[in-house]
Amino acid sequence: MSVIEWLKEDPSANKKDREGKKRASISKWLKGEVGINTEAAIKRSFHETSIGESDVQISIRNIGKTYVKNGVETKAIDEISIDVRKGELVSFIGPSGCGKTTLLNMIAGLLPPTSGVVYVGSRECTGPGRDRGMVFQDFALLPWRTVKNNVELGLEIAGVPKAERSAKADEYLRIVGLEKFANSHINELSGGMKQRVGIARALIVEPDVILMDEPFGALDAQTRNLMQAQLIDILKTTKQTIIFITHSVDEAVYLSDKVVVLTKRPTTVNEVVEIPWSRPRDRTTPEFNEMKREIVAYLEHENVLVD
Ligand SMILES: Nc1ncnc2c1ncn2[C@@H]1O[C@H](COP(=O)(O)OP(=O)(O)OP(=O)(O)O)[C@@H](O)[C@H]1O
Ligand SMILES: [Mg+2]
Repeated sequence: MSVIEWLKEDPSANKKDREGKKRASISKWLKGEVGINTEAAIKRSFHETSIGESDVQISIRNIGKTYVKNGVETKAIDEISIDVRKGELVSFIGPSGCGKTTLLNMIAGLLPPTSGVVYVGSRECTGPGRDRGMVFQDFALLPWRTVKNNVELGLEIAGVPKAERSAKADEYLRIVGLEKFANSHINELSGGMKQRVGIARALIVEPDVILMDEPFGALDAQTRNLMQAQLIDILKTTKQTIIFITHSVDEAVYLSDKVVVLTKRPTTVNEVVEIPWSRPRDRTTPEFNEMKREIVAYLEHENVLVD
């Protein structure tokens, strides 16, 4: 639907009055009745996709997902379209159970969408691939293997010779600061250390994109802040594209280039908030807190409790 067609639709016919308000704002903008800040916000809200743009790494087009179990349908994702550019860190934040893991699994190629397409570069995603690495919320490490053997896993599956994968694992253990724990077993590690093993395991195959599902959600506040700072440090070296799921507004504002705020289930994009600052960021500035307030306001619209 074009913007003009969309504007012509009766806003009151829409379930959500937010849509009506957005339309009214856009009408004003088109008539030149609003200033520059509102104009930027309105442009943002269109979520224009940009097929064919060369720096787009992941392109999510009209993705929807309905689960069917024992004849019962659960519509998790209504429709989402978003582009993620090379080197961008894009966070998705939204109510519990709205479909964030579902979305990430579809990007990973672990779950087929009911409708729509995910493009990785210019190729349609039809399954998992080494171009996408995953970091799981619950670590998903193999407890019978040492730290180093866990990190090597992806290279082992790919048939990389032992000496080569051993050298690579040492390199990535250094990057995440775990070189002294190479021969430890997983049950000897703290939560933060386990998650660093998970990150090294995803990084070692040098994927173009890393998909992170609430990777720091299980950590205490202090360890979480340390892990966020370390992730930023790692990205300076590896320059990967990151798709990051979180429940924390503070984490989203601290890390992201773009925060995609999702609605409750069946989910769709509520708002896309661009964060134009370089990293690392100072959490104590008024601008940082103003940005958090903006995102909290979008989430409160969905009756979400936020931390
Ligand atoms: N395999 C499945 N079969 C049926 N329904 C499912 C399945 N996986 C998820 N769902 C349902 O789809 C919806 C979205 O689940 P999902 O795990 O994607 O949410 P989420 O946003 O990641 O939640 P959380 O914030 O709690 O991690 C939920 O209602 C869930 O019960
Ligand atoms: Mg989830």
